[in-house]
Amino acid sequence: MRIDIISLFPDMFTGPLGHSILKRAQDNNLIFVQVTNPRDFTYDKHHIVDDYPFGGGSGMVMKPEPIFRAVENVVNAANSSNRRVVLMCPGGQPFNQAKARELASYEQLVLVCGHYEGIDDRIRQQVVDEAVSIGDYVLTGGELPAMIITDAVARMIPGVLGANDGAQHDSFYNGFLEYPQYTRPREFNGWEVPEVLLSGDHAKIETWRRKESLRATFVRRPDLLEGVELSPRDQKLLQE
Ligand code: ADE
Repeated sequence: MRIDIISLFPDMFTGPLGHSILKRAQDNNLIFVQVTNPRDFTYDKHHIVDDYPFGGGSGMVMKPEPIFRAVENVVNAANSSNRRVVLMCPGGQPFNQAKARELASYEQLVLVCGHYEGIDDRIRQQVVDEAVSIGDYVLTGGELPAMIITDAVARMIPGVLGANDGAQHDSFYNGFLEYPQYTRPREFNGWEVPEVLLSGDHAKIETWRRKESLRATFVRRPDLLEGVELSPRDQKLLQE
């Protein structure tokens, strides 16, 4: 998969995308991530990327031409019709695990980072397939959302998390929160690891994990259970 990020601040991405799992995924050619600066697609002397809003008001608006040309450039480079152009925008559709999984199915993802007071709306209307928000708060730009989306999408790509893909155990993967995990030592500060996990009884461990997963969801995120039809087994586990 190819992820193109359109940003006026490419340096913001070097650290976050250059470590750990995302670095390995790029080294192994499972994902290709590239940041393109719209400023490189300005042809005036001062490389201007923003301008005053028509109709007045405070703040600056990102001009359409540099973003248009930057997107056009990366679309041509990938030469795949299986792509999605996504605008980072606080007014977009909420980003969640289902959206991450969906976006991971494209061959090319183009993440457009807005800045200043916004971008010329013709980009949203004509160039962008959808706008996505990472939460109900306003950030100074789309760079952090683009990093979050890149991370969440990349780890859905087969092989990125390693041989035994861990994504299937994730919180939200099956709609519930994850069960608690423990590692050595068995006792730390007098705090014990739950006995069942040391039993070697895989059926019992599976049941315990399912129960903890349901319980955590019920206590911390009951909204995730709304409209969900629990199986008779899950209902029983939740009542225990
Ligand atoms: N740009 C500014 N705030 C944002 C948010 N919450 N989500 C996506 N893009 C943004």
